[in-house]
Amino acid sequence: MSKHILILAGDGIGPEIVTAAEQVLTRVNEKFNLGLTWEQGLLGGAAIDAHGSPYPDVTSEQAKKADALLLGAVGGPKWDTIERSIRPERGLLKLRSELNLFANLRPAILYPQLADASSLKPEIVLGLDILIVRELTGGIYFGQPRGIRELENGEKQGFNTDVYAESEIKRIAKVAFEMAKLRGGKVCSVDKANVLEVTELWKQTVTQLHAEQYPEINLSHMYVDNAAMQLVRAPKQFDVLVTGNLFGDILSDEAAMLTGSIGMLPSASLDENGKGMYEPCHGSAPDIAGQNIANPLATILSVAMMLRYTFREEAAAKAIEDAVGNVLDQGLRTADIMSEGMNKVGTQEMGQAVVAALG
Ligand code: IPM
Ligand code: MG
Repeated sequence: MSKHILILAGDGIGPEIVTAAEQVLTRVNEKFNLGLTWEQGLLGGAAIDAHGSPYPDVTSEQAKKADALLLGAVGGPKWDTIERSIRPERGLLKLRSELNLFANLRPAILYPQLADASSLKPEIVLGLDILIVRELTGGIYFGQPRGIRELENGEKQGFNTDVYAESEIKRIAKVAFEMAKLRGGKVCSVDKANVLEVTELWKQTVTQLHAEQYPEINLSHMYVDNAAMQLVRAPKQFDVLVTGNLFGDILSDEAAMLTGSIGMLPSASLDENGKGMYEPCHGSAPDIAGQNIANPLATILSVAMMLRYTFREEAAAKAIEDAVGNVLDQGLRTADIMSEGMNKVGTQEMGQAVVAALG
C-alpha cells in the first residue's frame, strides 16, 4: 500500500497548528518506521488567494492521489464577503463530497487532567467518552434546490432542502453500529422525526438495519432538541451518537465543550475504503491567528486518528495519544485549557513537548 499524505494547512491558525502536528508526524514516522511521505497543498482562503478558487484542480488532483489528508482549518473574515459559491467553506464541502467522505467521526473524550476546564461540574464529565458519528456528504448541506430567490412581491426568500436516501442512511448507521461494537455497544440515533419527514425515514431505516444486522447493539432514538439538553444534563449516558449532517455539526460543537476545550478534539472523515481526511473539530480562529497561542493538540490527535483508521498503525497512534496525556500530566497548557497552577505554553512549545514525550 502506498502511504502518501496531503497536508492542507488552510487559513487562520491552520498553518501554526499543522506545523506542530507535522513535527509530531515526522517523529512517529522515524520512530515507528512507518514509511509515510507527504506533500503540502492549498485549500480555502489560501487557495482563493493563489488560484481564485477554494478547491482548485491542482488540490483536487493531489487529494485524489493521497491515501489520507491532514487539514488545519479554513475560512476567515477576509473571504466572508466574496461570492458565496467560492467561499473557503465551499472548498471544504466540495472536497468532502468529491472524495465521498461520508462518515465523520468526532470523539469527545475528557482527559482527566482537564476536568476543571469543562464548564460542567467535574462529576458530570469525568470519564466522558462519546463518539459522534455525523453524516457528512448529504442532508441539508448538499440538498437541491437551494439558494436565495426573489418573491413576486420583491421580498427575498432563502431556501435549502434536507434530503436523505435510504442507502445514505444505511451506510452511516452501519458505521455507527460497527463503532459501537468496538466500544460500549450502545447507539443513540438523533432525529427530529416528530416534525421532519426526512428524519422519519432516517429513524425507520436505522431501526430496520438494527433489527436485521445488529440486534446485539443497544439502540435508542432521541429528538435533537432533547439530545442537546441531555448532552449537558447527563452526557455520560451516551456511547455512540449517530445523526445527519446539520444536527451533527451542532451537537459535535456542544459535545466538544464538555471536554473543556474544542481545542482538544480531533476528527476523521472516512470514505467506504478507509481513505480519510483528518482535521481538528475547531475552526480557523482568525482572532488568534499568528500569535502562537492556539492549541495544536486537536490536530496532533488527528494525526493519531489517521494512523489508526487509514494506516492501521495502532501502536503509533497510541504513542501519540499517550504523549499528549504525558504533556498534560506535566502541567503544560495552552491558553484555552489553562487553569490555576499550570504552566502556560504557546503553540510551538506544546508541539515540541509532544515530540519530546514521544521519545
Ligand atoms: C465543521 C465546520 C464546517 C461544517 C464548516 C466550516 C463548513 O463547522 O466541520 O463542523 O459546517 O461542516
Ligand atoms: Mg462545525
